[in-house]
Amino acid sequence: MSEPLVVARDVKKTFVHEGKVVPVLNGVDLSVAKGEMLCVVGPSGTGKSTLLHILGTLDLPTSGSITYEGRDVTRLSSSELARFRNRTLGFVFQFHHLMPEFDALENVMMPGLVQGLPRAPLKKRARELLEEVGLAHRLAHRPGELSGGEQQRVALARALVLDPALILADEPTGNLDSRTSEQVHQLFFELNARRGTTFLIVTHSRDMAQRMPRVVTMRDGVVERDERKSETYRDRDGRQEAALDVLPPGADGSATEPSATATAADPTKPSSSRENAGESAVGDTEGDAAATSTNASDEAGNRA
Ligand SMILES: Nc1ncnc2c1ncn2[C@@H]1O[C@H](COP(=O)(O)OP(=O)(O)OP(=O)(O)O)[C@@H](O)[C@H]1O
Ligand SMILES: [Mg+2]
Repeated sequence: MSEPLVVARDVKKTFVHEGKVVPVLNGVDLSVAKGEMLCVVGPSGTGKSTLLHILGTLDLPTSGSITYEGRDVTRLSSSELARFRNRTLGFVFQFHHLMPEFDALENVMMPGLVQGLPRAPLKKRARELLEEVGLAHRLAHRPGELSGGEQQRVALARALVLDPALILADEPTGNLDSRTSEQVHQLFFELNARRGTTFLIVTHSRDMAQRMPRVVTMRDGVVERDERKSETYRDRDGRQEAALDVLPPGADGSATEPSATATAADPTKPSSSRENAGESAVGDTEGDAAATSTNASDEAGNRA
């Protein structure tokens, strides 16, 4: 197993509600390796979403630490956090938080616009991702002109546009019909095998959990069980599809896929290429667009 990407140590979280302390996480320990794919399951109200928000740095633990490659992100300033989040994490929520005034293509481009990345390669990458999720024919539709499942797929493409190391998904297929859910699940597995993207998915879907190589079960705010199946994933009929450990990114020949030409498309060198791209965009004509979208995007993040 490769080195840990993120480690939660003794994470506790309490909320204060009407003057009463509500303990929600009671000491969660969890380590997720690079390239791993796991799901978190457990009864409603057991703290899954709370943990996901804390892992995603959208909320702070009451105590305990969250380290990414050894760096404790609970100690970062809010501007450092925003940068870290934008570069490292992709979020997919049950309710997708798309921006209603922008079309599908612009919504997918948004994380890159916020960073001031050059518009042309970003647009190309966004278009490719929308094609990959089956929405080539809906690029110019605004969220209100898309079905729920289509909106969810736009949100997924948006989460992937900067090639994050880790996708955090909270019931990503909770609002989708079974066929669309299956397509989204399949896409997760493909991206994991092809790009080495790490996935942590909170789900109530038995189907999804059955196919995951690792299932973490939470109960009463702690990890009750952490089950690693064989290092393989299975398709819907239970057939073994691939051994995750022996299929590095690009091993299926996808290294030549067109998206590799987009900015920061190589997941093995995310920060340097993104930094360069970001620097080269200083004074870029897109500066205004990026500046205006920052607030909107922050707002989306807060709502998330
Ligand atoms: N801001 C808050 N203030 C008070 N209590 C909260 C707050 N946010 C969450 N909780 C409580 O924390 C508990 C865990 O919530 P959480 O959303 O993490 O559960 P979950 O495991 O994701 O459940 P579900 O499967 O229903 O989505 C719940 O009982 C919830 O009421
Ligand atoms: Mg939840």
